[in-house]
Amino acid sequence: MKAHIREFESGAEAAAAAALFILEKTSMAIESSGRASVLLAGGSAPKMINAELLKLREEINVSRIDWYFGDERAVAPESPDSNFLMQWETLLSPLGVETNRIHRIKGELGAVKAAEDYRKLLSERFDGSPVFDLVLLGIGPDGHTASLFPGYPAVLLSDEMVTSTSPAPLNPFVERVSVTLPVINAAKTVMFFTGYDGKKAMIDRLSAQQDIKYPFEMVRPESGLPEWFIYRSPK
Ligand code: 6PG
Repeated sequence: MKAHIREFESGAEAAAAAALFILEKTSMAIESSGRASVLLAGGSAPKMINAELLKLREEINVSRIDWYFGDERAVAPESPDSNFLMQWETLLSPLGVETNRIHRIKGELGAVKAAEDYRKLLSERFDGSPVFDLVLLGIGPDGHTASLFPGYPAVLLSDEMVTSTSPAPLNPFVERVSVTLPVINAAKTVMFFTGYDGKKAMIDRLSAQQDIKYPFEMVRPESGLPEWFIYRSPK
């Protein structure tokens, strides 16, 4: 799979590089259009990037960036399983992001209604199909990305921007809401941030020329190669 790969020894080094990359891409977007749109990832690895982004807060033009979510669990925003809560606590609140610039997926509505609601939000805010300036993604040990799980119908959707899925095959085993691959692949820049822990088999596929088998391999942005930030050990 073709990709621009950056490998680091530690998570902190990878996160620092990823944070600078995010600053660079959002600054470029603001320079050319006066604003930037970022699609945030869920899970736990983004917390490492967020700690580094907070160190750059003086250089981040917060008032010009809109923050969206690539996927969400069908839970309330107060739930410890909420991707919104993780991003709110570790980035958006400490960065001082105005709530009108945060566009969360309303997991508390249940997956189907939340997907419908987010589809409406995206089409209103992007006047049609979204083109994000920057998409952040992680990968799971099963090769999922966002909430696009191997073998789930959501992976193959080409005519929907946002979809609901049945309960995930890994913790938290709840229904999910996810943007689809066409939305991810339409973005100006797509970046992955992940460690080897539990995901070596997937990461090794990046350098092998195998056929596409997993959802993360279906991320092939029209704009260019996906940008990978990988760390060998979490510390
Ligand atoms: C989610 C995420 C998911 C995540 C991967 C990696 O809702 O769980 O969006 O796609 O990026 O599972 O998770 P970690 O970063 O915690 O390894």
